[in-house]
Amino acid sequence: MMQLLGLSYHLRTFGCQMNQHDSERVAGMLDSLGALPVQKAEEADIVVFLTCCVREAADVRVLGQVASLKNMPTPTGGKRLIAVGGCLAQRDGVKIVEQVPHIDIVFGTYNVASLPSLIEAALAGQGAQVEVLEQNQALSTVLPTTELPSRREQFWHAWLPIMTGCNNYCSYCIVPYVRGREISRPFDEILREVDTLLSDGVIEITLLGQNVNSFGRDLYGETRFAELLRRIGDSGIQRLRFVTSHPKDLSLETIEAFAETKAVMPHLQLPVQSGSNRILAAMNRSYTVEQYLALVDAVRQAAAAAGKGDGSYQGAVALSTDIIVGFPGETETDFQATCDLAKAVGFAQAFTFIYSRRAGTPAAELVDDTPAEVIQDRFQRLVAAVQQSAWQQNQLEAGRVNQVLVEGVSKRDPLMLAGRSEKNTTVHAPLPAGSSADEFVGRVLPMRIDTAKTWYLQGELI
Ligand code: 5AD
Ligand code: SF4
Repeated sequence: MMQLLGLSYHLRTFGCQMNQHDSERVAGMLDSLGALPVQKAEEADIVVFLTCCVREAADVRVLGQVASLKNMPTPTGGKRLIAVGGCLAQRDGVKIVEQVPHIDIVFGTYNVASLPSLIEAALAGQGAQVEVLEQNQALSTVLPTTELPSRREQFWHAWLPIMTGCNNYCSYCIVPYVRGREISRPFDEILREVDTLLSDGVIEITLLGQNVNSFGRDLYGETRFAELLRRIGDSGIQRLRFVTSHPKDLSLETIEAFAETKAVMPHLQLPVQSGSNRILAAMNRSYTVEQYLALVDAVRQAAAAAGKGDGSYQGAVALSTDIIVGFPGETETDFQATCDLAKAVGFAQAFTFIYSRRAGTPAAELVDDTPAEVIQDRFQRLVAAVQQSAWQQNQLEAGRVNQVLVEGVSKRDPLMLAGRSEKNTTVHAPLPAGSSADEFVGRVLPMRIDTAKTWYLQGELI
């Protein structure tokens, strides 16, 4: 295999955790070939973009960043290689190099492992390299993903993909078209990877999939996510998380496994998207507001009964969600219903998005005459409602001791340790005098919470 000794590279990652994990694999491959990671694109001979196309804003940003690299000199004065991977690459393929000729490499979501050979060909002056396989062509070559080296962003944390793709076809969403149908990884292969991660000293694993609740259905004819949670929970891993859950596939069995498995952290990301039954139907989400609220109740009851979090109904588990504002045809009444639902649930966190029309999805065909200002105004009101509920949820922690996995120091204050509580809330605590943050990073430590803000908790190491 070729070597990239003496060449520097820079990675820019957009979008979801699947891309973050892919970028760790790209880093692992380039490192193993001797290339050197650098912090700035200006300093790099090779710049790799892992792109997202879930919303238009992400596409536009990537292409803007690529354009800005066009005439920028490299540190060695040679030509800079620009590689574009991820979902935009999968969607647009060769069109990307036709539109932006200074892009050298386009690699699809199934072609991450080919990046080194594409770089080699591009360096050898063989012109633009495009490798974008369709899922059916790729199946024999891409899985398992384990065989690629990976350089983890943090030594204590690992992303662990348990499946790829999505079969749900929510009417607004491009993901099923760029990530393909659901393919689960074999149970035993996942457990083996858990063992490897444990022996590497990882203390927190986040299981990844577009819809982890349906894990196993394609391979075993039935979902085995509950069993997977329990088995990984028994492995000795300290903290286990997973994203994302589709409400329609969150079974009672999974809720029980979530509640009863001690290593599974008391935090659940459960995207609701809308609080209006009419809009949920138009989105093809396959559940109603009433069913969603019943699920939340079942999760809270099970988690409280199992003594998760603070063991109380409201404080046993932190719920977070995704919400889309301005789906075609959304009325003020529909929107109000979404705000009401957000208040009723009491989300600890919510990712809020303005609907973005994605060509090729069913919703792109719907007409909508809601003025952009009206949607913007609804978005602001939703953000305010979500902030209010996050603040309220955080108040439950004031005066309590949280177990915090220290990640580093606060961006704004190098004398302030920053980490994540079990409920996935950011916690800040002053660095003890005379010590260095490195002594604490990657450890789970108890902190007493003094003050609860909207987006973080302020505490003290005990
Ligand atoms: N417009 C806006 N938000 C979207 N999402 C997915 N597709 C779109 C779209 N077309 C949001 C959903 C999903 C999250 C990852 O992104 O809320 O849960
Ligand atoms: Fe997109 Fe829906 Fe699949 Fe999530 S469940 S990736 S929103 S189609």
